[in-house]
Amino acid sequence: MKIGTIAENQIEQNLLDEGLLPTPLLDTQMAYTLARTVMVGTKLGVFEALAQGALTSSKVAASCKTHPSATKKLLNALVGAGYLSANGERYELAPVARKWLLKKSPQSLHDKMLFQLMEWDWVEHYEDFVRSGKPLTVHETISDEEWGIYQRGMRSLAGTWVSEVAQVMPVPKGARDMLDIGGSHGYYSVALCRCHPELRAVVLDLPEAVEQAAPILAEEGMGDRVVHRAGNVLSDDLGTEAWDLVLIALLVHHFDDGTNRRLARRVARALRPGGVFVIQDVFRPRSPEEAGQLGALLDLYFAVTSKAGTWSVEEMADWQREADLVPQEPIRFLSAPGTGQQVAVKPAA
Ligand SMILES: C[S@@+](CC[C@H](N)C(=O)[O-])C[C@H]1O[C@@H](n2cnc3c(N)ncnc32)[C@H](O)[C@@H]1O
Repeated sequence: MKIGTIAENQIEQNLLDEGLLPTPLLDTQMAYTLARTVMVGTKLGVFEALAQGALTSSKVAASCKTHPSATKKLLNALVGAGYLSANGERYELAPVARKWLLKKSPQSLHDKMLFQLMEWDWVEHYEDFVRSGKPLTVHETISDEEWGIYQRGMRSLAGTWVSEVAQVMPVPKGARDMLDIGGSHGYYSVALCRCHPELRAVVLDLPEAVEQAAPILAEEGMGDRVVHRAGNVLSDDLGTEAWDLVLIALLVHHFDDGTNRRLARRVARALRPGGVFVIQDVFRPRSPEEAGQLGALLDLYFAVTSKAGTWSVEEMADWQREADLVPQEPIRFLSAPGTGQQVAVKPAA
């Protein structure tokens, strides 16, 4: 999968094939214009305004409390982008907007769009990063309000592949206790506990995260089967032979190699014999050619926004092996290309 220039007729295709179209302009100006249009449409509530049916631009503007003619420009841009369709003076949602951007949709990326407006500011740091090698330290610097946007954004993202995660997760037979490290919204724990009636989960995250993520988890109505614990995985006691399953999703890219090795050893001690340690993350590709467009771009993104950047499956397996766990073949997600799980098992006593 990749993003790129798509010809809309044969003449354009011929020009594209011959390298006569200015593709860098489409890759840059049109890419950021499209991105900002969809994100701002989401933030202003344009898609929600159209959830019940087609409306004129002035009705959308009244609903969103925005300027009528400027709103019409935005709606026309969203028609061009394929997120709305127009019928005379009325606009309506295209299927892509109804499925992915309405707040109530099960696969809603609404809150991820709002989080991306924060990520927009982060990617402005690319030049400084490449010059200085210094990444951002987002967990140390964001405001309370941004913590809320971040946690809701992560929950929204999790919704797009939670069913695949729940399907492939190697939950040991008879598992009772799960630790979800850096688990934020706790949605993976929720999904797993729903599939495994004997399972309970503790979602460990930083206090600032738990404060914002607690209402998100409460909405799932899991009671004491999935609970938050505010703390820091790098300093908290994880226990001894206390867990059957330990999940760490999208967090190891924030830790350097030594930190991840020490963490793997503490997780190994905290697992019961036969227990499973699952590292779920973006896999760093072995080479830029192997990465493809998305993998290579994400590798840079995580280098800028995390303290360490992504890790390869071989590196993750090495942390697990050094902790006397037995690494398994990596699982690669179909619904999120370039991501997956590096699983290891603690040998039975
Ligand atoms: C990118 S989010 C991933 C959230 C969730 N696991 C998911 O995959 O959707 C990383 C999470 O790790 C948490 N985190 C960062 N440093 C941590 C630490 N030292 N101890 C515990 N949690 C931490 C952050 O607060 C955040 O909620």
